[in-house]
Amino acid sequence: IGAEGTLGIVTAAALRLFPAPARRETAIVAIDSVANAVELLHLTQRVCGGVIAAFEYMAGEAMDLTLANLSRLRNPFGQIYPHYVLIELDIPSAFPKESKPLEDALEQAFEAGLLIDGAIAESEAARQQFWSLREGMVESAWMEGGVIGNDISVPVGRTAEFLDRAISDVRALAPDARFSVYGHLGDGNLHFTAIRPKQTSAAKFLELNDDVVIAVADAAMALGGSFSAEHGIGTEKMKLSSRFGDASVESTLRKTIKAALDPAGIMNPGVMFPARTES
Ligand code: LAC
Ligand code: ZN
Repeated sequence: IGAEGTLGIVTAAALRLFPAPARRETAIVAIDSVANAVELLHLTQRVCGGVIAAFEYMAGEAMDLTLANLSRLRNPFGQIYPHYVLIELDIPSAFPKESKPLEDALEQAFEAGLLIDGAIAESEAARQQFWSLREGMVESAWMEGGVIGNDISVPVGRTAEFLDRAISDVRALAPDARFSVYGHLGDGNLHFTAIRPKQTSAAKFLELNDDVVIAVADAAMALGGSFSAEHGIGTEKMKLSSRFGDASVESTLRKTIKAALDPAGIMNPGVMFPARTES
């Protein structure tokens, strides 16, 4: 949760287990706008209901960079498209064997004009290739050196608005900044990564780190999202946490938990909470 050991110690864990899916269906589709990616999410939710296991967004630039930097990966299409989504369904044994929910959804999406291209994984190897594209995005961005990562969330329906705003606000700070944007669109959680312009050194670009992080956080917060999604707060984001209000629900909860579990202030003192001074 990004509390850096200040709020408690894990002494036991209970795991909720789900039956393994009887089969999986996985596809990468190409889309010409973020708005259509969100439409596709809604359509897939209508057609496939509770069996959607992943709905991962990848921007065209992120795909381009990943294919350029990681030669082990293959482009599933003959070109780079503006946006992509990787969809995976975990299909339980109760579903009829001959049913093909993902194909049904994608067919409807094609008819509705939401897709420009698509590829369904015909084998486990193909499925793994698709996932390697998505999972390679972190590595490929970091290979550029001079990277400012962000882990934000916004209400899914405001994703396009967020991206327009965050990109233009970061460009106001660094006009030639490059971007690698990808993430868990189904959860409204994006990894919005700004990368140094080709002609700018990493050190020079990273001088903008705090300003870029604030610009991206402000864009997410203004649209009803959060400056921290799945990676927690941690020391890195404590400043942002204060920026958006020490009186916020999250901040108040943190202080309440701290007072209840660690009244003496001995857990990682001084890291997330001010150190107690001896009296
Ligand atoms: C991912 C990690 C960065 O989604 O959360 O790739
Ligand atoms: Zn993630």
